[in-house]
Amino acid sequence: MKIKIKGTGSAVPKLRVTNDDLSKLMDTSDEWIRSRTGIGARHLAVEETTTGLAVAAAKEALKDAEMTAEELDLIIAATVTADKFLPNLSCEVQSALGAKNAVAFDLNAACSGFLFALNTVQMYLENGVYKKALVIGAETLSKIMDWNDRSTCVLFGDGAGAAVVEVDSETNCKAKQPGAANKSGILSMVQGSDGARGEVLRCDNRPVNNPFAVNDTKLSYVSMNGQEVYKFAVKTVPKVIEEAVKKAGLEVEDIDLFVLHQANLRIIESVAKRLHQPMEKFPTNLEECGNISAASVPILLDNINKHGMICEGKKIVLAGFGAGLTWGATVLVW
Ligand code: ACO
Repeated sequence: MKIKIKGTGSAVPKLRVTNDDLSKLMDTSDEWIRSRTGIGARHLAVEETTTGLAVAAAKEALKDAEMTAEELDLIIAATVTADKFLPNLSCEVQSALGAKNAVAFDLNAACSGFLFALNTVQMYLENGVYKKALVIGAETLSKIMDWNDRSTCVLFGDGAGAAVVEVDSETNCKAKQPGAANKSGILSMVQGSDGARGEVLRCDNRPVNNPFAVNDTKLSYVSMNGQEVYKFAVKTVPKVIEEAVKKAGLEVEDIDLFVLHQANLRIIESVAKRLHQPMEKFPTNLEECGNISAASVPILLDNINKHGMICEGKKIVLAGFGAGLTWGATVLVW
């Protein structure tokens, strides 16, 4: 059975904020941000919401897949910045789309969220529980940034990406010759977590607060030990990619494109070097979008899809890593 991505979509807020714009608000510079991260600008929500961005990305993905919302039987949204505790983002998207036949729920695995959601969808589809799914990564991270902390707030942006995934009936029916060259769809996935190292990247939720436990703790914002996150990423990501590629019956050299979570250009360059692969195989949108956590991978996937960089048969690795700590990689043939 082949599970394929049939359509992609993305949306970012209208407001584009450059590094120079930020340098007028805080003690930073384009040179500092660009040289350490590769980020040139980010889009920040003013009137937009996580739900609104997710719905816009989802509509585009459905259009690209030539599918109606009513055909969907599963929606999973990955986010750490849903607009509401209740109802969840997925149900909000379901309602806005009119996807009345879908079951909808959210998943939080931070920057690995889209990967974990895609892998969850794959399990449901492979086991015949559902046939057509929408996977979303959507964030308005700007609302959980401390705008007085220049070491974190300059790194992140807002946006949403989506992919429509379905059981591919054509490849399902045709007899295929054995061998990796003839494989298509999602071939493998590898996931991991290490909660013991969670402190390096965190943002607390509301504290306990009731008539028996009054709490006046201030709102928490994202805090990060950048150097520890950097070391984690450059060690873990090449390993998880190698593992996923091997599981797919391929060699790293066979992969055409590596679509990595867009945290930092230096991390991506280091992964490319460790895998002995040219940077041309690693598309990026950091320059324009910054780090958008769960939305990074699906937005980049949509960018390269719309720019005609993907065609049938392309072998692609999707890889995410982030808070938790969590990490994951998926190998697919388009
Ligand atoms: N502008 C100017 N100066 C700054 C800024 C800024 N925006 N932020 C910090 N500085 C200063 C610091 O105050 C410090 O000054 P000091 O030496 O006088 O004390 C100096 O720059 C160096 O600070 P460091 O934190 O040591 O900077 P570093 O070189 O480690 O770079 C960075 C920070 C870019 C975050 C780096 O650690 C990194 O790439 N980490 C990877 C983590 C990452 O990318 N996280 C993204 C989110 S996590 C995820 O998505 C998985």
